[in-house]
This record gives sequence, C-alpha cells and structure tokens, in this order.
Amino acid sequence: MNRAVMRRALWESRHLRRRGRGYSRSADACNDVVDVYPKMPPFDYTAPPYTGPTAAEILTKRKEFLSPSMFYFYEKPVNVVHGKMQYLFDENGRRYLDAFGGIATVSCGHCHPDVVKAIVNQTETLQHSTVLYLNHAITDFAEALASKLPSDLKVVFFTNSGTEANELAMMMARLYTGCHDIVSLRNAYHGNASGTMGATAQCNWKFNVVQSGVHHAINPDPYRGLFGSDGEKYAKDVEDLIQFGTSGQVAAFMSEAIQGVGGIVELASGYLPAVYSSIRKAGGLCIADEVQSGFGRTGSHFWGFENQGVVPDIVTMAKGIGNGIPVGAVVTTPKIAEVLTRRSYFNTFGGNPVCTAAGHAVLRVIERENLQENAHVVGSYLKERLNALKDKHEIIGDVRGRGLMLGVELVTDRESKTPAKVEILQVMDQMKEMGVLIGKGGFYGNVFRITPPLCFSLQDADFLVDVMDYAMAKL
Ligand SMILES: Cc1ncc(COP(=O)(O)O)c(C=O)c1O
Repeated sequence: MNRAVMRRALWESRHLRRRGRGYSRSADACNDVVDVYPKMPPFDYTAPPYTGPTAAEILTKRKEFLSPSMFYFYEKPVNVVHGKMQYLFDENGRRYLDAFGGIATVSCGHCHPDVVKAIVNQTETLQHSTVLYLNHAITDFAEALASKLPSDLKVVFFTNSGTEANELAMMMARLYTGCHDIVSLRNAYHGNASGTMGATAQCNWKFNVVQSGVHHAINPDPYRGLFGSDGEKYAKDVEDLIQFGTSGQVAAFMSEAIQGVGGIVELASGYLPAVYSSIRKAGGLCIADEVQSGFGRTGSHFWGFENQGVVPDIVTMAKGIGNGIPVGAVVTTPKIAEVLTRRSYFNTFGGNPVCTAAGHAVLRVIERENLQENAHVVGSYLKERLNALKDKHEIIGDVRGRGLMLGVELVTDRESKTPAKVEILQVMDQMKEMGVLIGKGGFYGNVFRITPPLCFSLQDADFLVDVMDYAMAKL
C-alpha cells in the first residue's frame, strides 16, 4: 500500500479541519445559544425532483401488503428515492451520507455510471437465456473473478445471493468429504435457508426448525471473547469439537473473516491458520464466507481471509460483487467442483447475463478507481479518528475492523461491557437528523456498523465522526 499517498491524504484532511471547514454555526432559537454543527462535504449533484408517494403512504402500504417480518431503521424511516456514489437522497431531495452501503453491498458507489451502463447495455441486448446456451457475459466474468483468487481457486458457480452461495458451498463440502459435520462460529451469520441458518449462530436469526450437522465453536472475539486476542487458544476449541462432538472427521469449517451482522468482529489474529490446519487434519474443507468482507472492503487485501494469510478451499461471495445487483458466487478448485456432476444441479438465474455483466463492471471499477486502496487510506484514517472519539466518549467500548468495514461498540459501562442498546438508538437517530445513515448490529444490537461505498472520502470520514461526536455529546 502506498504510504506516501496515505500520509498526504491524512495531512490534507487534518489541514482542512484545522482551517475550520466542515462546520456551520447556527443559533438555537429558544436559548439564543450559538451551536456549531458539522456540515456535510459539498457534492456537486442535485437529485431529480421526486413525484412518487410519501414516506407515510409507503409505510401504510408496506404494513398492509408486505411481510410483517420486514423491519426498518429509525422511528421515522427514510424514504430513499435516489442514490449517487456515497450519497442517498430522500423524497424532499435531502442528501444523506450513506455509511452503511445497503449493508456492505454498494461497493463502487450508488448508480455508478459504468455499472449502470453495463446493466443497460446488457439488458438491451439479452436479458436472460440460462446457461443452457452460450453467452460471453458469464464466462468473461468468471475468468476475471478467478484471476482475483489465489492458488487453484478458479471454478465459479454463480448464484443469486449469499445464502444460496453458502448453501451450495456447504453441500459441496459434504459431498466431497462424505461427512456431514460442519463447524462454524458462534455469532456468525451465513444466511437464512435451512443449512445456512444452521451455520448461523445468533438466536435472534434462527427459527426453531430442523438445522442439522453444524457445531458452533467459541467465537475468537478479541473484545468479548474468553481468550481475548489469543487466536490459537480459541482454535483449540475447534480441535476439541472435532474430538468430542464428531466422528473425528468433518466436512468443513466455515467462517467470515470479519463478522458483519455479528457486529464487525474481526477474528483474533492467528486463529484461521490454526483452525484450517486442524480441519484439514480431520479431512475437512475450509470455506471462507466473503459476502461482506470481499471485494477490497478490508483495504489491506482484496479478500478478508488474506488478512490471516490462509488459502481456503471454497470461497463464497455476494453483496459487493454486484454493487446492488442480485448476484452471488462460489469459487473452488476444479477437483472439488467435480462433485456437482454426480447429479444435475441448476440455478435459473445464476450467471444471468445482466448480473454477470454488472459484476464484471464492478470488478473493473474497483480496479480502475483503486477502491481497495481508498478503503485502506480512508478506513485507516476513519479508524484513527474513531479511536480518538473513544478517548472522549466513555460510551464507546470498542473500535474495530479494517478498511471500510468498521465497528463502534457502545456500552454503558466499560468494565462490565453492558450493551448500550437504548443510547445507540438515540445516537443513530440524531445522526440521521444530521444527515448520516449508519448501520447497526451485533448480537446485542449495540454496535455501529460502518460499511459505506468504497468511494467514501476523507472528508466524508471527518463528517461522520464529527456528527457521531455531536450526537454522543447530546446523550
Ligand atoms: C457474511 C454473510 N454471509 C451470508 C449472508 C447472506 O446473504 P444474502 O442476504 O444475500 O442471502 C450475509 C447477509 O448479510 C452475510 O453477511
């Protein structure tokens, strides 16, 4: 990574802040107190006028016609009608900084022109045909994707979502090894079909339906975990699970490199190499779920697993791969991929030309616009500023993550780490009022998740932190 670029960027941002940019003064009408609130970085774009239904009308219809399981952020949810790069616009044309990226999904930026062009061109040419016929969109993207993966990971199977990708990966591992047992991590999220719900390990995401064959290992969580940051101690638990909870042979180990839904928990250093070794000794495959941490988001590397220096046998991906277009993929070795030829396996939309053309365009944009490096530079700076904010606000218990996949955990007491479940909602709402949309998650719902489009700038990072600072000061 280019340190000179990083140093220059940090200097520029600090310099701008010292000169007082990014703040507005406003008089509090009631108290006649002059307040200084952060000002959103300028953006030379106006959303076209919106003439559709209002937020209230949509909410009423949603309550009547959509599943009651669909929850939303904020007491007064935002009617998002337009997007441009790292910004979203509501029905009144008000601009928001998008610090959540549609749950780590918008990688290049909302409506990135190159991605839109690829989608429109392909839609006008051929929208759907299935893999029963030939088309170059799918093969070109598969080749490009394979070039981003190490070793012999070069056979791609496209799906429509992360859940589908993980279901397929789990099945392939079971077929390949002839074993059923899979080890995943407590606090993991891998999807919501029967296999992946089994691998998911947070009770609030699990229904009481049959989910067989998954053992959940102790989470190597450096903040709340039993062994702090000692990755190898946690890895010993997987060895125990294999010895005491299985026949001694397993199908696979599956994990995220940084748990997203679980609250941006980066696995303790040294964990994956030790676990991969134990799993392989027990005949199992190692599956890396890169649904959130892939495509340059962690900044230092293109894939999250690379941060621990391991090479998986199967990699699954979705979200950022399509910048919002529904596409997922499983990438594995030719030998493992062979197992699917034992029966017919088919996915109507998997590899759809529009989705694969979009995915290919996303990959090109990430490379051409150096978005991985931007994630590293801006993410490192943002993390530094969030850590400084932690020194100022007692309520911040932990700041963690990498690149533009960062978490800020709020606690009412740093010693007992009591989750600040109510306070986080207040801060989140206040941040929205000031123009920042941020994510929230973690088992206790007390962690801010920062996973913006990778075009997020240093000025955006400053604005986000200043707004969070302001909102926390109001608690
Ligand atoms: C790490 C991870 N894996 C898998 C999934 C499931 O992906 P999808 O919602 O596309 O089915 C998610 C969704 O949030 C995820 O975060």
